[in-house]
Amino acid sequence: MVCAHVTKGVPCIVGVRAFMSENALTVLSPAHNAVPQTDSPLVLALPKGRILKAAAPLLHMAGIVPGPDFNDEKSRLLRFETNDPGIDVVRVRSFDVATFVAFGGAQVGICGADVLMEFDYPEIYAPLDLGIGGCRISIAQPKDRTGREDNPNRLSQVRVATKYPALTRRHFAARGINASIVHLHGAMELAPVLDLSHLIVDLVDTGSTLRANGLEETHTIAHITSRLIVNRTALKTQPERITAIINRFRTALASGTAQAKDQQA
Ligand code: PRP
Repeated sequence: MVCAHVTKGVPCIVGVRAFMSENALTVLSPAHNAVPQTDSPLVLALPKGRILKAAAPLLHMAGIVPGPDFNDEKSRLLRFETNDPGIDVVRVRSFDVATFVAFGGAQVGICGADVLMEFDYPEIYAPLDLGIGGCRISIAQPKDRTGREDNPNRLSQVRVATKYPALTRRHFAARGINASIVHLHGAMELAPVLDLSHLIVDLVDTGSTLRANGLEETHTIAHITSRLIVNRTALKTQPERITAIINRFRTALASGTAQAKDQQA
């Protein structure tokens, strides 16, 4: 039996031994949510990189100002207090935001829809489209394959390099294509060029990475933006605190939209 408990808002899983076999540690289900005591700050998980830059004005408008170390790229700190004693922020990889929230380590997060589609965690509720981090998740292939015998569009079995194995498998399976996945974490564009795969499934923003590496986009799987996400258990157990933070983002979004309209007028 595993139970999750919390010390000062930091989740600790006890009884992990029950999940260990001789050679393997079974992955815990996110259903084992760690929910902070009401006197602990809520934890807001933010993704490093591009989305964080795009989210900064929104955070500011929502009245959430992380401590000074937050913007210091040399700092090795990962958890930061904010101007609001009820909210701490953690800075994690964009792919990990959903997992931190699904397991209840963070109760709230900002997460790309691509990551939500990949993990499809039932523990996550995504109440707000923040309209930032816009891009698409697409299939691409080397330009010179078009019209050739080995054009992947003609194959019933394809090898696909991607950092989205589940999403990719689902996409091709729905079309009756058996996709074998080459799971990479970056530099996907090299895979077809170096014969690791026929295709890639990756994020496309400006398209310059594809062009620079001799690839062309052949199909858009989904348009992506970032979402405010919350842990469903936290929403049930602390509805006032979680709803308050959702409302702060909702108000920030509305005032951002109003400002944009004023500037256009
Ligand atoms: C993403 C994606 C592409 C690139 C697309 O990578 O994986 O490589 O951006 O952007 P573009 O269409 O504007 O060229 P990212 O820079 O996020 O780094 P990663 O490879 O570590 O995921």
